Amino acid sequence: SVHVDNFGTGPLYYKGWYHLFYQYNPKGADWVNTLWAHSVSRDLINWNVLGLALEPSIRSDQYGVWSGSATILLDGTPVLVYTGINRPDTPYQVQNVAIPKNKSDPLLREWVKPDYNPIIVPDSGMNVTQFRDPSTAWHIDGQWRILVGGEKGSHGQAYVYRSTDFKHWVRAKHPLHSATSGMWECLDFFPVLIQGQKGLDTSEHSGRVKYVLKSSLEKARYDYYTIGTYNSRTERYVPDDLNGDYHRLRYDYGKFYASKTFFDPARQRRVLVGWANESDTVPDDIAKGWSGIHAIPRKIWLDPGGKQLVQWPIEEVEQLRRKSVSVTNKVVKPRNHFEVKGLETYQADVEVSFEIPSLERAEPFDHAFSNDAPKLCRMKGADNKGGVGPFGLWVLASANLEEKTAVFFRIFKDGHGKPVVLMCTDPSKSSLGRDLDKPTYAGFVNSNVSSSGKISLRSLIDHSVVESFGAGGKTCIISRVYPSIAIGQNAHLYVFNNGDVDVKVSRLKAWEMESSKMNNSA
Ligand SMILES: *[C@@H]1O[C@H](CO)[C@@H](O)[C@H](O)[C@H]1NC(C)=O
Ligand SMILES: *[C@@H]1O[C@H](CO)[C@@H](O)[C@H](O)[C@H]1NC(C)=O
Ligand SMILES: *[C@@H]1O[C@H](CO)[C@@H](O)[C@H](O)[C@H]1NC(C)=O
Ligand SMILES: *[C@@H]1O[C@H](CO)[C@@H](O)[C@H](O)[C@H]1NC(C)=O
Repeated sequence: SVHVDNFGTGPLYYKGWYHLFYQYNPKGADWVNTLWAHSVSRDLINWNVLGLALEPSIRSDQYGVWSGSATILLDGTPVLVYTGINRPDTPYQVQNVAIPKNKSDPLLREWVKPDYNPIIVPDSGMNVTQFRDPSTAWHIDGQWRILVGGEKGSHGQAYVYRSTDFKHWVRAKHPLHSATSGMWECLDFFPVLIQGQKGLDTSEHSGRVKYVLKSSLEKARYDYYTIGTYNSRTERYVPDDLNGDYHRLRYDYGKFYASKTFFDPARQRRVLVGWANESDTVPDDIAKGWSGIHAIPRKIWLDPGGKQLVQWPIEEVEQLRRKSVSVTNKVVKPRNHFEVKGLETYQADVEVSFEIPSLERAEPFDHAFSNDAPKLCRMKGADNKGGVGPFGLWVLASANLEEKTAVFFRIFKDGHGKPVVLMCTDPSKSSLGRDLDKPTYAGFVNSNVSSSGKISLRSLIDHSVVESFGAGGKTCIISRVYPSIAIGQNAHLYVFNNGDVDVKVSRLKAWEMESSKMNNSA
């Protein structure tokens, strides 16, 4: 059957297994009649499919089982809270809970819906068709809290509900936070350590933490977040940067939506799982028999500067590394490139450190682009000669470079001589193929490249996916590309420099990657 894998819902760790639930439509590659499918993994890389976890079966979800989250209760029991549709004529949204039928089963194969469902219904005055995606709950001073996303006027709302028994929920007077950004889907709210990469349980609440509030913007289709403080008495969250809701920090500046994090107690880290849809046509999705993928899970923590998060592919992905090649201290002259030879690169992991000379030749930065990195990147693309850069990688490139996806940096300087680092993925030449969506993705990188003279890039290449991490994971871009020539053994990897000054590759290491084991049945 044709199906759509969509919205990661409720990742969790239980008795040695990672569980991922996701919206799944067994009847078509579009987004109706979705159910919750369920896969499990020992390492977040190789997955076994278990089949359906939730499907419409009770009055309060008979017309749809939509997104939600998992919470581990104080006694270790996992629960799923999800949005159900209870009316045939309009997507009227209520929140339901499901619990494991057999807590001793580490695979949590069967879920039951207690008869006290639904646990939360919209109050009068709320928009009943914009009230969904309950978050993971957190527990402080004897009370559980959970967020439900909503929209009032054009303001995204993070409604807070509280409960002592996880059955009876009462809404707090005002939302945790709201901002003028349209509907907030798939809210995620969690603490991060002020110093260090260790992850925290969602209920951890102390002076050592900051909070992250993530919203998926229904209209813009991207995940943005702010960092701030949370007061559990006033039940308010306040972003540190009061303009944070407008500056729009994003987990990923590419195709990345409806993501969720969870605390992994086995490795004491917080893991982010995001979803990337296709840029291909719907008829092609139907021909493939699937659409949408999950990104490689990422470890996520607060940058020491405290102003943004940092992400890095979970270390388990490195088990797929095979043959490798290295390049050291190679200078790439202006308007030059070289091929990284000696390995297949259609499935590869590439880590590279660039060294740049002074910023003397950097182009002046025009502040009109401060809030529009993609526009700047479209104007000054990979083939557009610059000062310091553009330099970076051409991945999934054909031998004659008719096809290539550029992942690169371009460094400007502002009026005070401070560097402004732009990171882009430019897929405009990625394919000679059919009618594809090829948007340019870009973000700024908060990296002090002037003091170190260095900047790093890592790209995970996997046929139609290019996932890139700039400056150690400060800025991330995932994109979908569908080359027509540069496929399989005809895919090449290059380092290029279209700037005005030399760029040195101080170190590059590229690995062929083995395929992970997917879709095994457990
Ligand atoms: C519950 O799961 C355990 C572990 O998989 C299994 O041994 C046991 O038979 C299950 N109990 C029932 C009632 O299915
Ligand atoms: C609820 O939200 C939908 C979708 O944005 C909108 O079309 C509708 O007008 C809203 N209804 C109310 C009562 O505000
Ligand atoms: C999915 O992809 C299409 C085309 O590339 C895009 O217009 C749309 O916004 C995407 N949806 C999401 C949820 O990212
Ligand atoms: C960046 O580097 C310069 C030069 O070493 C230094 O003066 C400045 O304080 C650094 N800025 C930050 C934010 O680290």
